[in-house]
Amino acid sequence: MIHSNVYDATIVQLPINHKDKGNLTSVNNYKEIPFKIKRIYYLYDVPGGISRGGHAHKELQQFIVSASGSFDLVLDDTRIKRTITLNRPYFGVLLPPGLWRELNNFSSGAICLVLASDIYKEEDYIREYFKFKQYKNGI
Ligand code: TYD
Repeated sequence: MIHSNVYDATIVQLPINHKDKGNLTSVNNYKEIPFKIKRIYYLYDVPGGISRGGHAHKELQQFIVSASGSFDLVLDDTRIKRTITLNRPYFGVLLPPGLWRELNNFSSGAICLVLASDIYKEEDYIREYFKFKQYKNGI
């Protein structure tokens, strides 16, 4: 996805099962998200002022939700930066590959839940911004 831009990331509103005793939200393969989940991971206990992410993926699709608290997702396609604040467990961002992302402004107790289309593969990462720019320019 060399040509993906920050507006290819879409905000998805998830269904909420309202009950007197609290709410429940589910995410299903090929329903709320267009891929099959192969991995789930979550970031938590992120100290205030810390930025996570700082990389892009070549193939991986992800769905990112704030399971608790809030944080900012900053997307960058080398031309435009877009910041999306995630602060509700029923709003997620569907993230195509080919976008640089950073996560920052974590609130106390925030949990960043990530549903991913593949297992962890270091070779899918672009971890240096200059390499990301080369990748986007087809170099
Ligand atoms: P990384 O993706 O670099 O985290 P972030 O971008 O949030 O700072 O991963 C941090 C470390 O965790 C790195 O050493 C790889 C490891 N890791 C796994 O072992 N499995 C995973 O699914 C992920 C996402 C990371």
